Amino acid sequence: MTRTLILGARGMLGRELAAQFPGALGLDLPDLDIRDEGAVRAVFAAERPALVLNAAADTRVDLAESDAAHLAVNDIAVGTLARACKSGGITLGHVSTDYVFPGRGTRPWREDDPVDPVNAYGRGKLGGERRFLESGVKGFVVRTSWLFGAYGPNFVDTILKQAEAGNSELKVVADQEGRATYAPDLARAIRLLFEKGASGFVHFANAGGTTWYTFAREALRLAGFEEVVVRPCTTADFPRPARRPAYSVLDTALYERTVGEKPRPFVEALADYLAVRAAKQAPVASTPAS
Ligand SMILES: NC(=O)c1ccc[n+]([C@@H]2O[C@H](COP(=O)([O-])OP(=O)(O)OC[C@H]3O[C@@H](n4cnc5c(N)ncnc54)[C@H](OP(=O)(O)O)[C@@H]3O)[C@@H](O)[C@H]2O)c1
Repeated sequence: MTRTLILGARGMLGRELAAQFPGALGLDLPDLDIRDEGAVRAVFAAERPALVLNAAADTRVDLAESDAAHLAVNDIAVGTLARACKSGGITLGHVSTDYVFPGRGTRPWREDDPVDPVNAYGRGKLGGERRFLESGVKGFVVRTSWLFGAYGPNFVDTILKQAEAGNSELKVVADQEGRATYAPDLARAIRLLFEKGASGFVHFANAGGTTWYTFAREALRLAGFEEVVVRPCTTADFPRPARRPAYSVLDTALYERTVGEKPRPFVEALADYLAVRAAKQAPVASTPAS
């Protein structure tokens, strides 16, 4: 078994990576801060991993517009990790985002399409990608989009909580297009990419382009909230500090060629997520008193 170290192990993706890499050591704040080069090198020296998976990130997209703190994690620390992996002969699997792309396009983004982020978070993640490349480390960078899963705040959960709270009408943005990604599917994709010896950039997302509007409708339908009315609205109706790309569909053909299978449709993954979410919410049966 490959000695594997997962960074950001308590995050939405990090927890799913732990399930795909049994026996891996998972670290997160406060036990290891990836901004601390000395601490990173000390852990590498003590644990001697053959593979490091970096799921650590500062994912506060709106805050990134006014606070540069994200750069230390998403940009600079990736260079630190990559150099430490390079000098230790360690393979690095890093995770990046569709937000590196310009946000207007006519066909799904391929790995070598020109990048031009529309927001500060995307620029920080792009900085991390460049540091990965400059280091010459062996390994891969998986770009993904619209992540949802059981271990973190996500769009589906936000929509369902509103329905569960009794809201009978929701307005959801219909002029942003992308591909949703289920965190366990991404974690599995990362394992397959590692097993195939992938190197360089690879895109992964579940199949089927969608808008937030259609994504919300599918989630509500599958969760049994057919009576909730979803009204399409525009990005301008919901002003946010960070701009969002209007067109952010990732092309996953390279992933499909590399591992020999297609990502499954997001609706299938959504059904799995809803089952996991319902099980987490179900009351725990108490043992009857004897
Ligand atoms: N979420 C999305 O929609 C999305 C979309 C595209 C790409 N991605 C990328 O996918 C990857 C995983 O995202 P995610 O949604 O799983 O993120 P997440 O749930 O926010 O998890 C990130 C983890 O990293 C930890 N972390 C933050 N700063 C750290 C530091 N300095 N040292 C060590 N750990 C640190 C966080 O701890 P705290 O919680 O304590 O800060 C958290 O546990 C990221 O690279 C992200 O950029 C995400």
